[in-house]
Amino acid sequence: MNIIRKFQPPDFPWVIEIEKQVFNEHDPFFYMQFYETCSDGFIVAQINGFIVGFVVGFLTSETTGRIFSLAVHPSYQNRTLGSALLKEIKDVFREMGVSEIILEVRLGNMKAKRFYERHGFITTDIMEKYYNDGESAYLMRLKM
Ligand SMILES: CC(C)(COP(=O)(O)OP(=O)(O)OC[C@H]1O[C@@H](n2cnc3c(N)ncnc32)[C@H](O)[C@@H]1OP(=O)(O)O)[C@@H](O)C(=O)NCCC(=O)NCCS
Repeated sequence: MNIIRKFQPPDFPWVIEIEKQVFNEHDPFFYMQFYETCSDGFIVAQINGFIVGFVVGFLTSETTGRIFSLAVHPSYQNRTLGSALLKEIKDVFREMGVSEIILEVRLGNMKAKRFYERHGFITTDIMEKYYNDGESAYLMRLKM
């Protein structure tokens, strides 16, 4: 059974494992800090008791929400879980009064860029050497 719900501290090891699998860089402490400061935007996808995906988003101004990361375990991708997590964070942002969502995607991450475009995001800028390893990022935006 698929469940989309708020993150809880026992989910932490699952989230870190997914992060290791899908991102080059990872920062375990960020996630607990995020939970302590703005937990409303920390959402997980659960299948048969296993956490297989998560999204982290927070406000950067009263009307702007930023998606910091969205990830689905490679074994569970292409099953609409990413779309379900994105829908949930959009609903959370909407309730907070957000009118625009922003996020960054690595230039080499065409799958994620295409995924966000399918969901209505458009690229508005390129941020040179945005990541620690020197890769640049697309800045993408969605008007709500
Ligand atoms: C980007 C990401 C979150 C998408 O998650 P996902 O669970 O695979 O997303 P969905 O299943 O909703 O959609 C993914 C694709 O599957 C396709 N799909 C979804 N359901 C499908 C179905 N029933 N049958 C066939 N295809 C399907 C979608 O059309 C979409 O195609 P696309 O790749 O051409 O856009 C995931 O690939 C991921 O974790 N990537 C690594 C981390 C990352 O890059 N995060 C984004 C930057 S923060």
